[in-house]
Amino acid sequence: MNAEPTQRLAGRVAIVTGAGSGIGEATARRLALEGAHLVANDLSGEYLDALMPTLAGDGHVPVVGDVSVEATAEELVRTASERHRRLDVLINNVGNLFFKDITDTTVEEWDRLMAVNLRGTFLCSKHALRVMVRQRSGVIINLASISAFVGQEMGGQSSFAYNVTKAGVRQLATSLATRYASDGIRVNAVCPGPTRTKQVRHFLPELPEADEDAIWESAGVDGTPRGRVGRPEEIASVIAFLASDEAANVTGAAWVVDGGYTAR
Ligand SMILES: NC(=O)c1ccc[n+]([C@@H]2O[C@H](COP(=O)([O-])OP(=O)(O)OC[C@H]3O[C@@H](n4cnc5c(N)ncnc54)[C@H](O)[C@@H]3O)[C@@H](O)[C@H]2O)c1
Repeated sequence: MNAEPTQRLAGRVAIVTGAGSGIGEATARRLALEGAHLVANDLSGEYLDALMPTLAGDGHVPVVGDVSVEATAEELVRTASERHRRLDVLINNVGNLFFKDITDTTVEEWDRLMAVNLRGTFLCSKHALRVMVRQRSGVIINLASISAFVGQEMGGQSSFAYNVTKAGVRQLATSLATRYASDGIRVNAVCPGPTRTKQVRHFLPELPEADEDAIWESAGVDGTPRGRVGRPEEIASVIAFLASDEAANVTGAAWVVDGGYTAR
């Protein structure tokens, strides 16, 4: 049975970065269903054009832009403030995959990954916190990963650089949680295990579909005690809980949602 979720976020204003696909898209849909007004960001205007008319509720605004650029972070927060006079929730969801051994990784590849995955989360948090501190309320959720805790390889290549960014956004949540707890602001990390999205497709656009399926099979089916790959909606439901007042005393935590992957 699929009961409609209650509107735990009625009237709240939420920024979701990378809302165009995968976990970001599922999160945008879930928060909208729960009554939030969204500022939905993505690098892809096409993804946002497809998403916006299908969101439940109202008051949603798309912002196309690259979160590694400070002007985008400023625009996201300014849009929330000008349109709704407040900002209640920031979901730092953007995070690109990267698999290549350290011995082959160029400085340019390292810098770009750090910019998108880590600097983007720093910048959006920086500008959101200025509003949240004034309001004396707010929730920030960073999409980390089980990769924040474990080493991983794909096709014999390491995801070491991606893992470093995921450990970074997890720790940023910890540090911001202790710093801003007395301002009424909660900050948590969500750490998904293998969750079927376009993440592999975005990293390897030329990969044959059968190989893509095999990657998810081996990560999700063979890799987890639950024996299946996760669904974006299963991450979104945890994010919605953490964003709501039901999680009023949850801050500085890293919520693992991985079908038992790291329990093994
Ligand atoms: N899918 C998984 O198995 C998994 C596991 C652990 C953690 N995560 C994390 O969850 C988050 C979402 O992953 P996903 O699997 O949904 O990825 P995805 O690749 O399916 O979606 C990412 C979205 O972000 C957008 N984007 C990329 N770069 C951007 C930028 N610079 N500025 C703005 N938007 C940008 C893309 O266009 C895309 O719509 C990431 O942080 C990822 O590290 C995913």
